[in-house]
Amino acid sequence: MCRKFVVYLVFFAAVISLLTGCKIALLVVEGGDLGSQSGRFACAQGDICIIEVNSTDFNDIFIADPGEGYVFSHWLSGENMLCGTTVGPRCTIDLRAFEGNELIEAFVASDITYYILPVFVAEEEPEPVGLSPELQAKYDSSCDRCHTNGAFGAPVIHDEAAWAPRLARGLDSLLNSVKSGRGAMPAGGDCGNCSDDDYRALINYMSGPAP
Ligand code: HEC
Repeated sequence: MCRKFVVYLVFFAAVISLLTGCKIALLVVEGGDLGSQSGRFACAQGDICIIEVNSTDFNDIFIADPGEGYVFSHWLSGENMLCGTTVGPRCTIDLRAFEGNELIEAFVASDITYYILPVFVAEEEPEPVGLSPELQAKYDSSCDRCHTNGAFGAPVIHDEAAWAPRLARGLDSLLNSVKSGRGAMPAGGDCGNCSDDDYRALINYMSGPAP
């Protein structure tokens, strides 16, 4: 992954050095876009966008916007990397406070290029939860009868779409249904020796993805 960034930086450094004055280069390698609060800057995945900074008036908030299936991870840090110490997907660059500051004005007048590079990572799939042998035995001798094949209209095990609207009511509500019975499901779900914790674990297992 790092290697990929380096290739990008070397390639674009050559292009950028043809221009003069301080610049901010927005780089987006993969996984989303980089925009700014003012709407003046928008840089799509795979692009490099160069901003000429000519005065200490410059200010904007850069916003890392992850694409489908990605989440924002961090801003790449290192030499000439801006935002590297910023936590979260919004990075403020505001030079106004530095007006009259010789160091900053010298930077603005220089032909140095600074980079802003948000790193996006692929979203993690939910971890499937397994069942202990004891709980598997409890499932097999009770819940299995209806929930493996959907008998009597029972929501089928690991059919996440069928479980989603039920889960939305909260785990406690589902626990109560099993304990007191619901529709064709007998009270206790036909499990004579299940504790509340057992029921909770069984419900999480049944409503989650297949291991
Ligand atoms: C005799 C069949 C049968 C057995 C045995 C059974 N269920 Fe069910 N279960 C159903 C049916 C039918 C529904 C749908 C009820 C409804 O919403 O009308 C259901 C619904 C549920 C729900 C959702 C309740 C809600 O509020 O939406 C949970 C949670 C559940 N079962 C857990 C279990 C667990 C855990 C076991 C084993 C300990 C079990 N069931 C055993 C038939 C069964």
